[in-house]
Amino acid sequence: MRVIRLRLADVRRFAEAELRPGPGLNLITGDNGAGKTSVLEALHLLAYGRSFRGRVRDGLIRTGAEAVEVFAEWHEDAGGRTRRAGLRHAGQRWNGRLDGETVAQLGDLCAALAVVTFEPGSHALITGGGEPRRRLVDWGLFHVEPGFLSLWRRYARALKQRNALLKARVRAGQLDVWDHELAEAGEPLTRHRQAYLETLEPRLRAMAADLVPALGAAALQFQPGWSRDGLSLADALLVARDRDLVNGFTSVGPHRADWRIDYAALPGREALSRGQAKLTALSVLLAQAECHAGARGEWPVVALDDLASELDRGHQRRVLERLLASGAQVFITGTEPPPALADLAADIAMFHVERGEVVADPASRPAP
Ligand SMILES: Nc1ncnc2c1ncn2[C@@H]1O[C@H](COP(=O)(O)OP(=O)(O)OP(=O)(O)O)[C@@H](O)[C@H]1O
Ligand SMILES: [Mg+2]
Repeated sequence: MRVIRLRLADVRRFAEAELRPGPGLNLITGDNGAGKTSVLEALHLLAYGRSFRGRVRDGLIRTGAEAVEVFAEWHEDAGGRTRRAGLRHAGQRWNGRLDGETVAQLGDLCAALAVVTFEPGSHALITGGGEPRRRLVDWGLFHVEPGFLSLWRRYARALKQRNALLKARVRAGQLDVWDHELAEAGEPLTRHRQAYLETLEPRLRAMAADLVPALGAAALQFQPGWSRDGLSLADALLVARDRDLVNGFTSVGPHRADWRIDYAALPGREALSRGQAKLTALSVLLAQAECHAGARGEWPVVALDDLASELDRGHQRRVLERLLASGAQVFITGTEPPPALADLAADIAMFHVERGEVVADPASRPAP
């Protein structure tokens, strides 16, 4: 998957900007606050319906403007097609178009464009709460498992209903129908998640062995969201029912699922240095991109925000070498070109962000 055109309007400080990326490495430089991360946010928005720095209404829309607009055109390696997507997002209301047609769900846009982003907040994937970890697994499944989204929606709807009834303190028997529905959707959803992590694990192990070899073999542990010692989800919901009625929310189920990484040479994730947590997060993201490529026949676009401030030169080189070997399209941002670029023989398309504009740099480097 290769983006050939990206246009943004009213994204943070940009009134309007456009770039035509190259097929391989793309480097975006500019001073602090110039808008480098914003360019990646715009791309991420099309692929996820949200920024990695929060929701659209949390500051993505340029001050004084009504809505952000992002348009991208990309080439599918697997299908050979050129596709176009546009999104206008005002915080609550949005309109999207894909290949000239209006889309009914934001998910339709997100299903078309696959982007994996590593940014300074990505360590939260390892050291933070469970939500980004659930989201990561679900993103992977959303792109490769055709029935997953409808299962997920069915589960989310049932959960909302059950929670509303719990809050209203209904009689226990009125929960039966929603417990049944939660179990019907939640069990297969959980099997998908478990299978996904089993596919991810060997790729993660290889990636982590390359990026953080001192930590020993990496393993993934899945926690489905309820104690499964012989307990079906339906049983677990029944057991939790009295407590849930007191608390007013559903305390067990796939919405509480999580996973964690264990390293053979480390007592727990608390023992990771900040740099190791970042490299672990990056290993997971790249393993996920590789899984995606395995299932879909093409790499997602990989965006690496502020690479040089996140990784030392040796790690930058290893990551970039891997990505170059994969043939993925990559976006890198930095106030300066990352030092490791000097060690690589590759085409680099260069862009400079300044005064609210993204300008292609005539010094773009063809492979020697
Ligand atoms: N809603 C907004 N409206 C207008 N300007 C904004 C808005 N949100 C952020 N900005 C400005 O837009 C710029 C955001 O830039 P961004 O974070 O993309 O910069 P950057 O080039 O990645 O910087 P750094 O090198 O510090 O990471 C900043 O100058 C910020 O002050
Ligand atoms: Mg930035």
